[in-house]
Amino acid sequence: MWLTGDLGVTTRLDPWGHHAIEDYEKLIVEFGITSIDKLLAQYTVDHSYFTRRVIFGHRDLDSWLNAFSRGDKTAVLTGFMPSGYPHLGTAMVYEELKYFQKKGAFIKVAIADAEAYAVRRESRSDVIQRGFDFVVHAIAWGVDPERAEFYYQTEMPSSYYRLIQMFSRKITQAEMEAIYGDLAPAKVISALTQAADILHLQLDEFGGYKYVVVPVGVDQDPHIRLARDIADRFKSELGFERPASLYHRLIRGLDGNKMSKSRPEYAIHLNEPKELLEKKVMNALTGGRATAEEQRRLGGEPWKCTIFELYTYHLVKDDKQLEEIRQECITGRILCGACKKRALVLLMELLREHQDNLRDITERRVVEKVLKKPSF
Ligand code: TRP
Ligand code: SF4
Repeated sequence: MWLTGDLGVTTRLDPWGHHAIEDYEKLIVEFGITSIDKLLAQYTVDHSYFTRRVIFGHRDLDSWLNAFSRGDKTAVLTGFMPSGYPHLGTAMVYEELKYFQKKGAFIKVAIADAEAYAVRRESRSDVIQRGFDFVVHAIAWGVDPERAEFYYQTEMPSSYYRLIQMFSRKITQAEMEAIYGDLAPAKVISALTQAADILHLQLDEFGGYKYVVVPVGVDQDPHIRLARDIADRFKSELGFERPASLYHRLIRGLDGNKMSKSRPEYAIHLNEPKELLEKKVMNALTGGRATAEEQRRLGGEPWKCTIFELYTYHLVKDDKQLEEIRQECITGRILCGACKKRALVLLMELLREHQDNLRDITERRVVEKVLKKPSF
């Protein structure tokens, strides 16, 4: 979310907010995020999220890629806050994890149960169960549990918690305020905990991975900036290096605002029943015109359309086919009703496959093999 301070000069991203981001270029300029464009000219990163600029920015991804291709120790770390239920925005991170796994990278995933408890004020039993669901869905989406580690924040050993305490010494109130605005203790602790998630892999005890990249929605950039600052300050004491990051655009909800676990009526959940899917898609905000006549004459505006976003982020893997859909839209050859129906068919197919996979994954097996639940 954009917050403009009293003086009209400070802009902030709120990692806990519920607003859609309007202007990604502005983020690049204001926060010094590096645009992905230059990197794409130099490296082959062959996922459509890159080529379509769904992943639009990064910090130091080039160093990470260099280390990776040199065969240095590299890792990918991300996390999920288990409030609400996994949705198509969550699945974007699953996609990225799958991509890195296919390349052969080591993957580690935090279940931010401490954060969900403290900031979203969910009950412990809910965050434990929801956290588990995020893992089960990741596996159903195609993340290979044999080549990934998942953990609950609250199950980590003392060496991870020691980091949080050490970090607190070198961060000032003014810095926290500049980054987050809000200094509620729950948020301060959650931010430092996330820094421990991002940085702990660099300790020998956790493998000594000096090159870590964090793929996330860009609303998480404040946490990345904090973790990078902390890394600098612990360079001599702990030998930390700055983590790299990778930012995707946030998928919007079907009303055009941020797709958020806290506004379930506008999100598409990965366990969504068919009937609800149809209702949600048919009611979605599009880039269509006021009348059919006008749309045939002027064409639609796919850049405003939540349905076109679904095509881009999840439903159409082939770039040529996506371009055809865009052409049909802007030339007015298709109207939104028909276009939505086509999207609905693809979406049902995608989720049916996912839900079939889900049924094959037994909770007992996941608990035994992948992740134990905290006891309270
Ligand atoms: N704060 C993240 C969210 O809201 C979850 C998270 C916790 C995370 N630890 C992380 C993300 C470390 C990336 C890296 O979803
Ligand atoms: Fe969106 Fe399709 Fe309508 Fe174009 S025709 S605005 S892509 S729903």
